Amino acid sequence: MADLSKITCIEDLRVIAKRRVPKMFYDYADSGAWTESTYRANESDFQKIKLRQRVAVNMEGRSTRSTMIGQDVAMPVAIAPTGLTGMQHADGEILGARAAKAFGIPFTLSTMSICSLEDIAEHTGRHPFWFQLYVMKDRDFIERLIERARAANVSALQLTLDLQILGQRHKDIKNGLSTPPKPTIANMINLATKPHWCLGMLGTKRRTFGNIAGHAKGVKDLSSLSSWTAEQFDPALSWADVEWIKKRWGGKLILKGIMDVEDARLAAASGADALIVSNHGGRQLDGAPSSIAALPAIVDAVGSEIEVWMDGGIRSGQDVLKARALGARGTLIGRSFLYGLGAYGQAGVTRALQIIHKELDITMAFCGHTNIENVDSGILLPGTF
Ligand code: GLV
Repeated sequence: MADLSKITCIEDLRVIAKRRVPKMFYDYADSGAWTESTYRANESDFQKIKLRQRVAVNMEGRSTRSTMIGQDVAMPVAIAPTGLTGMQHADGEILGARAAKAFGIPFTLSTMSICSLEDIAEHTGRHPFWFQLYVMKDRDFIERLIERARAANVSALQLTLDLQILGQRHKDIKNGLSTPPKPTIANMINLATKPHWCLGMLGTKRRTFGNIAGHAKGVKDLSSLSSWTAEQFDPALSWADVEWIKKRWGGKLILKGIMDVEDARLAAASGADALIVSNHGGRQLDGAPSSIAALPAIVDAVGSEIEVWMDGGIRSGQDVLKARALGARGTLIGRSFLYGLGAYGQAGVTRALQIIHKELDITMAFCGHTNIENVDSGILLPGTF
């Protein structure tokens, strides 16, 4: 068992993940669309926001506990849905769900995951988790997926609205991204330098899209799967579909991918329980503002009607605190989670969560607060946000 006590920040985990995960999968996680300007702004805009240091305030008895859509969380952070997570590390989604459960935060499984809904239910003792849904043209498949989610004890559905068509990520094209890796010479040479990853993959049967293969019509193998995905995401998605899914599901619904005040109003009017201010980690519309820059106007417009959360660029507990100060009741971490997973599997995810929690807790105290529920924009230096 690796000693992770010297791993002190998310960047440490990123560096190790980059070493351990095959290039095509590391790049898939760690890239944005086109010039990657939005992807970079998600992180760098957090740095511009400055905190007000307070002193001689009693810092004892601190709490980061909160709720997201009424569910108790050890800190206002959930694991975001990320595609191909089981390719960052063998059985990645199961490991992520277990780490999240032990830490007391929600885990979200992606539609495009490697481990299936049933795998997560089976390997977490049927602990409730969240499921992210893409709207696909095959509505029979969507209906079955919703029923499978229900049977797997999913306690909230996250409907992603910003991926009707796929943003172009140059690295994926150049790497010939596919699951499992295509046996090109470059890929074989790269795999030869990742023995730990290869051993893990040899030891699991989960190497393709677990929610889809064998469940969607005509999808039996990987080549038919990739063409199926390209054909199946629904470019005609509308608010009427959101209503249809809300009705079919009947439980807690979270709308993900809202960046505009007008869309936020429509999301609030839809009766969903939360919306996520998100530009999909800078992977869709390059040139969109960072999520943290888009957050305040959306909170102003609809914050009294619907829970507003955000994702994109969170690499520390300080970022979580800043998002909370700007009105996000909850946050989600994608890459910070994947770096931990790629570096050390479940122990790495736990380490990522410990790091974020500690940064959140200590920063909150330095800003003069002991309870996250009392944090507001008063902790931020005016003129920096
Ligand atoms: C899928 O969600 C992706 O961003 O690749």
